[in-house]
Amino acid sequence: MSGGHSTYSPKTGIGRWFDARLPLPRLVHDSFVSYPVPRNLNYAYTFGGILSLMLAVQIVTGIVLAMHYAASTELAFGSVEKIMRDVNSGWLLRYLHANGASMFFIAVYIHIFRGLYYGSYKAPRELLWILGCIIYLLMMATAFMGYVLPWGQMSFWGATVITGFFTAIPLVGEWIQQLLLGGFAVDNPTLNRFFSLHYLLPFMIAGVVVLHVWALHVTGQTNPTGIEVKSKTDTVAFTPYATIKDGFAMIVFLLVFAYFVFYIPNYLGHADNYIPANPLVTPSHIVPEWYFLPFYAILRAITFNIGPIDSKLGGVLAMFGAIAVLFVVPWLDTSKVRSAVYRPWYKLFFWLFVINAIFLGWLGSRPAEGWYIPAMQVSTLFYFAFFLIVMPLLGLIETPRRLPNSITEAVLEKNKGGAAVQPAGATASPETKG
Ligand code: HEM
Repeated sequence: MSGGHSTYSPKTGIGRWFDARLPLPRLVHDSFVSYPVPRNLNYAYTFGGILSLMLAVQIVTGIVLAMHYAASTELAFGSVEKIMRDVNSGWLLRYLHANGASMFFIAVYIHIFRGLYYGSYKAPRELLWILGCIIYLLMMATAFMGYVLPWGQMSFWGATVITGFFTAIPLVGEWIQQLLLGGFAVDNPTLNRFFSLHYLLPFMIAGVVVLHVWALHVTGQTNPTGIEVKSKTDTVAFTPYATIKDGFAMIVFLLVFAYFVFYIPNYLGHADNYIPANPLVTPSHIVPEWYFLPFYAILRAITFNIGPIDSKLGGVLAMFGAIAVLFVVPWLDTSKVRSAVYRPWYKLFFWLFVINAIFLGWLGSRPAEGWYIPAMQVSTLFYFAFFLIVMPLLGLIETPRRLPNSITEAVLEKNKGGAAVQPAGATASPETKG
């Protein structure tokens, strides 16, 4: 995954023996020790590492939970209660896993917004971005199916509503819904297949993450200036510089995670999910988990027919379109300048987009009535306009700020007037020094 010339030289006999047969330590060394990273990466660039950690946390806690969980409509709810009360540290495992999913999404949203701000998706990193979008889709499918497993009221009704969307698709819709459910309604076969897929998908995510990081190591990372690495003074070695920074960010992130787990473990969940699923009692207000809320608002924004497309299909198309548009972002942005740091208008629209996304999320938690409906419609319009109008047009008409000649120049310019200005390359490790 290193994408460059190897600097690894094993020092022991065993090391040389291993290297000649399976150069795994060489791969690790070239990818995570000597690998050159831009010297100006900020904390927004630590979320990829945080995501890798969270994926591991979810897989490990999930595997242990699965040892005690029973995927049957008769037993599921009770087995989760048993985990909470009778299994040693079961409450901890479950709260880590449930809140871990939320933390995973917080991290992925910051990671995606970072990409949008710094233009990380632009050539030659289009595939890297698309692999990220695939991971995001897989994460959503995994989280949705996981939420069904405790077999509470929200599990059952959430699954009923979401799988119901598919019936809006002409011709094959009902067939797809029945395939997902394993029958005509959410029931035991649904729970079984969701459990099976919920166990499988994280390993598929792990596989796509390997491709994601491989693609990253071929193109190299971007950096806040958006200017590519030009000389060795623009980079530092991954270890110790990035490892220390990533490690510190992970610790801070884990502290926030711990606060949720130990102090407000049910804050992000829904109280109705502590009521066993009952197909005869519909909750007054069915809401998905917080990380799906912006898309839930977009779904319900389409309250009118568009030509032959009725409002239900229109809503489903808008919701899937909101995710699909992410895949083509590399081709929608026409700007020659990568980073928002040098694009004053794009920066403004980016922050409006962030505020709008949060507002959409809040609207998603509201019932589809009164002024919420036009608000959902205006917000949905802005969501799509950002990608389909602002991104292509702004790139053509915006005058960017002057770009520095190199990463090193940008760093030194920023430090001008500071107490001690380091000469170019002073922080580069021996391995990356020119
Ligand atoms: C399990 C989920 C994910 C993991 C473990 C992961 C991992 C990583 C890692 C380790 C990096 C390098 C460090 C960094 O820049 O933060 C990275 C970079 C990147 N990721 Fe992800 N990622 C995930 C999801 C996503 C998603 C959902 C997207 C976009 C839709 C995405 C797009 C990118 C891009 C474009 C870069 C390059 C950033 C740059 O160099 O500017 N990733 N990812």
